[in-house]
Amino acid sequence: MGRKEEDDTVERTEGGVVVVNPKPKKGVIGKAIDLLEKVIIKLMHDSTKPLHYLSGNFAPTDETPPLKDLSVTGHLPECLNGEFVRVGPNPKFAPVAGYHWFDGDGYVLYNPDFAIWSSNNMIHGLRIKDGKATYVSRYVRTSRLKQEEFFGGAKFMKIGDLKGLFGLFTVYMQVLRAKLKVLDITYGNGTANTALVYHHGKLLALSEADKPYALKVMEDGDLQTLGMLDYDKRLAHSFTAHPKVDPVTGEMFTFGYSQNPPYITYRVISKGGIMQDPVPITIPEPIMMHDFAITENYAIMMDLPLCFRPKEMVKNNQLAFFFDATKNARFGVLPRYAKSEALIKWFELPNCFIFHNANAWEEGDEVVLITCRVQNPNLDMVNGVVKEKLENFSNELYEMRFNMKSGAASQKKLSESAVDFPRINENYTGRKQRYVYGTTLDSIAKVTGIIKFDLHAEPETGKAQLEVGGNVQGIFDLGPGRFGSEAVFVPRQPGTECEEDGGYLIFFVHDENTGKSAVNVIDAKTMSAEPVAVVELPKRVPYGFHAFFVTEEQIQEQAKL
Ligand SMILES: [Fe+2]
Repeated sequence: MGRKEEDDTVERTEGGVVVVNPKPKKGVIGKAIDLLEKVIIKLMHDSTKPLHYLSGNFAPTDETPPLKDLSVTGHLPECLNGEFVRVGPNPKFAPVAGYHWFDGDGYVLYNPDFAIWSSNNMIHGLRIKDGKATYVSRYVRTSRLKQEEFFGGAKFMKIGDLKGLFGLFTVYMQVLRAKLKVLDITYGNGTANTALVYHHGKLLALSEADKPYALKVMEDGDLQTLGMLDYDKRLAHSFTAHPKVDPVTGEMFTFGYSQNPPYITYRVISKGGIMQDPVPITIPEPIMMHDFAITENYAIMMDLPLCFRPKEMVKNNQLAFFFDATKNARFGVLPRYAKSEALIKWFELPNCFIFHNANAWEEGDEVVLITCRVQNPNLDMVNGVVKEKLENFSNELYEMRFNMKSGAASQKKLSESAVDFPRINENYTGRKQRYVYGTTLDSIAKVTGIIKFDLHAEPETGKAQLEVGGNVQGIFDLGPGRFGSEAVFVPRQPGTECEEDGGYLIFFVHDENTGKSAVNVIDAKTMSAEPVAVVELPKRVPYGFHAFFVTEEQIQEQAKL
């Protein structure tokens, strides 16, 4: 792909992707800041405790070039021709102090003045073609990774450090490095390590801190970072890791959140990749908004009280994001092509946090949201040292309803705890559908199985734990010592002509008994305990976050661009 020069410093590919070429500086100033940082860490940080989210199978791995002809037990169906990809935190350099699991994930603040989040991102891919499988793992070549490689060490601050007074010093160190040009923030601070989506001929690696990184899937399965997307300079704010692609119109709907007003900005991107004007959304204070949802006519914003309160971080020795249980959960339903927020309707429900929605649709006057509702979220639970149990925490499937005529809101619990990472047959995004596939989570948020819900069935009440029956149509239990990742539904056929659950679920599994990793494929219809295929992997795949399936058609389409 050719490149063209643009204005003074920024270079772009012919496809409009910004070539990421940061210019950090070594020198006396940089060394002085390093020394100051060392002194502060020695005085204020307890380095004796092990960092759980960097140990065991959370520990990072090296890059792997495509390794082909892997051992396959069972068979890989033809609809799986393509590449299964999953992102996850994978710091290349040891943290200087603390580490939060989300340091990899990039649940973040966005501030153009300084880069807050650290860690690098590895994508693990399984290229499948005609029953054969190839494994590859590659870093996304972010500005952050390139600069840390330049210095040979971690230089960006981490969410794990943003606690108490030490958190404040950490912020100042970052600001200082950016202001004195030790770090170059021309290309933002993105980790690109939360989720993946395909739109307008490109696979995008996303984190909610920054702009998307565009990748190319090569024919042999290798993954090449092209650069950053700024939609012809129209994107000037952060970009969610969970945009929604409408399967009928081909448009992509997205938003960004910020510590500075507007705290939320909603955007629509046409099928042809043109980003429409920003729609600022007014909410009372800065929050973390990890996901949203669309229907055929609406977009659903979520003002949930996980608030960004840096003053309380210092005062109360807590993380910068604080769950304020005195506030309600607010849901804003906006016509999805609105040019302003004038027509948004806000609804209130009891407080909660939501990382991930499964889907939404319209029924008469009501907008229905199927979601994973979290009670008592505490981001400190996946920070630093290992916790034995996530106390007072629940993560349950819920149905929420918002009546656009009466203004009434209601909710109904659909499952016991703990369920998250919900996926559907994405040919139904924004439309009424029946099946949701999630992961079951253990007490420290490791994936213990894959669960299938039938939304047409009533939940069984009074259960102490998740089990088959009622609306739980099947659970694929990974067994003792085996933990998985988000399962992606791959339909046997595109469109909505065939059965909604006619297809497969594909996901990574790691066996802590043997130290080996695999990709499992199971039948989504039957949820049979016997996998359709198991692909043994030549390398350990650390626990990570979201996954995506790039179809063969998409691989061929992006190869032409
Ligand atoms: Fe997410």
